[in-house]
Parts: sequence; structure tokens; C-alpha cells
Amino acid sequence: MKFPIHIERTEVSHLHEVDFNQLQFGKWYSDHMFVAEWRHGRWVDCHIIPFGNLPFSPASSALHYGQIIFEGMKAFRGPDGTPLLFRPEMNRLRFNLSAERMGMPTVPEALWHDALNELIWLDRRWIPQQEGASLYVRPFMFATDRFIGIRPTEFFKFIIITSPAGLYYSRPVKVLTMEHYVRAFPGGVGYAKAAGNYGATMLPLREALQQGYDQVLWLDGIERRYVQEIGTMNVFFVIDETVLTPELDGTILEGVTRDSLITLLKDKGIRVEERKIDINELIQAGREGRLQDAFGTGTAASVVAISEIRHRQNTVQLPPVEERSWWKQLKAELDGIKYGTRPDPYGWRVPVQSKLVAAVLN
Ligand code: COI
Repeated sequence: MKFPIHIERTEVSHLHEVDFNQLQFGKWYSDHMFVAEWRHGRWVDCHIIPFGNLPFSPASSALHYGQIIFEGMKAFRGPDGTPLLFRPEMNRLRFNLSAERMGMPTVPEALWHDALNELIWLDRRWIPQQEGASLYVRPFMFATDRFIGIRPTEFFKFIIITSPAGLYYSRPVKVLTMEHYVRAFPGGVGYAKAAGNYGATMLPLREALQQGYDQVLWLDGIERRYVQEIGTMNVFFVIDETVLTPELDGTILEGVTRDSLITLLKDKGIRVEERKIDINELIQAGREGRLQDAFGTGTAASVVAISEIRHRQNTVQLPPVEERSWWKQLKAELDGIKYGTRPDPYGWRVPVQSKLVAAVLN
């Protein structure tokens, strides 16, 4: 192993405390976590240790200036019990893209791969068997310099925690635009999974919830007209049998689910347009009955139908979800590949394999 991992196993497993039939997103955390340190230009001190609180300086620039990035991934239990990951290399590449944008070190392939595989293998009993459930995997990195001036930082922690999770959204979502807030703008960090992108949406989200909506449908920061994403998800619309999704212009997240759906759709010969989408075009198509489907996509959420879009005084009701085949079929196909119940012609499914835990601890 290029990055030797020291394993300290928990003495008390909390697995029996979890009601796997009542899983929510983010409520439970598995027994172990992975932790590595960046010091003097190198990744060192790689450990798998019992899940628990972390010691770090209250002067850390992560706490003061938000130098934190993260990823979202899932491990699935295949039909024969094998733990499966979905396109884990895509997450590494995006993690490193986020790291570069935030002035942080990148994570080499061997470290990413070994950390994920050994941790998930050790906690493989935490991967739910229930339909639609999975082990959510959250790699993240933050600056730990004990210094509250602003200067490029030199010390970081790279951590992975995992959480058995059910559906992020258990029903179709209602979204509304908000023109007085902006999520991302050209030259900013919209494409990165920077923690602050999500922190800054808490107030708008609260206002959306107060108005009876589930999420904000973000518009561009300049004209407040072009759709970007739904904060926790990328977004797709189907108009006149053509699938539309906002182009990757640096303000939206380069979603792994987004990319996978575009591939599935194109391989079926379906027309997909990645371009600027004017909110007024959607409202118009909705009025004329041409908006056939709308859905959000993301790792945590998978594929979720949108039931209503509001923009200013205009409300567009999508056709009833049961009558819409697009989102449902795409979700079924993608889930089939992820859970190993359908063929995977793309090689997206990656079995979790352990060298260390399997050899030493089992
Ligand atoms: C994911 O889909 O993994 C996300 O990052 C969304 C998360 C903020 C809940």
C-alpha cells in the first residue's frame, strides 16, 4: 500500500441500534471513519478509527473561512451481497477539482481508492438491504491551520464517514425560483462541492419551506433568468420529447448522476440538449402542455420527480407523477445498474475490495 492505513477497530458496534426499516437520510453513522492528515506537502497518518468527534484547533481556517469541500457517494449491496460503488473515480476527479478551486491539496488515486475500499469493507454490514436504501459515503477535507489570518493554508484533514440512508426525498418535490438570492455566478465556486455553497442556501431554503416548497430552483446570478440547479440536485426537463438540462458553465455542479443519465438517454437515441434554459421557456411550455416531465438528479436524491414549479406569479403543475414515464424509467435503469440487478455495459459498477481488512481483521 502506498499510503499505509492503520486500523483501530471499535470495541462496541452500534449496528444493532439502527432500525433499517426506518432509515432517514443522515441520522445514523457507521462504526468507523477514515482520517488522513496533510502535513509538509504529503498525505500522512492514514487511520481507520471508531466514528467519533474530532480534535482540532478552534482557530482552524475551515471554521473561520469555510475552507471545506466534500463529496457524496453511495455503496450498494449487490444481489450476492457484494458491496458495490458507482463510478467512484468520477467523485475523486470532482473532489480534486473542488480542492484545486479552494486552494487545497488533491487526493491521489491510491489514497482515495484504498481509503474507500478498506472503510466500506470494514463496515460492510452497515450497507442496507432494504429497497432504495444504501450506505451514503461522505468524503470531505478541511483546513486545520491554527491561524486566523488569511493566507494559503498548509494543514488539512481528509476524512470519510458513512451513513446508512433511505431516500433523500420520499415524494415528488415542489420548487420555486427566488430572484433576490443567487447561488452561484461566473468565476465563483458553483461547480465545486464547497461547503459554503450549501451553507448559503439555508436561509433561502427556510423561506422556500415556509412558502410550502421543498427547494429553490436557482436562476443565474446576472440576468436571473437561466435555470442552474436545485441546490442538492441537477435538474432536467422534457419538452416535446427532447430532454433539456443546463449546460456546465462553471456555475453548476458536474453531477455524476447527471452525466450518467445523459449517457443513458443518448444511447437510446433520445435528443438531449445541454444549454441555457430560460425559466420563461419552461413556464410557456408548461402553459401549452408541452412540459412532459421535470426531475432533479443527485447522488443522495437519485432521480426525483418535480411536481410543481413556481416563478413569480406563475405556477406550473406537472402532469401526475404516475403518468410520467421519463423520470421513473430513468431511475429504474440507473438503480438497476447501481444495485447490480441490470447489466452494466458502461463498467460503472465497481465492487468494493479490501486487501488490508480482509487479510488482517476478518
Ligand atoms: C449528494 O447528492 O450527495 C449531495 O451532495 C447532496 C447533499 C448536499 C445532501
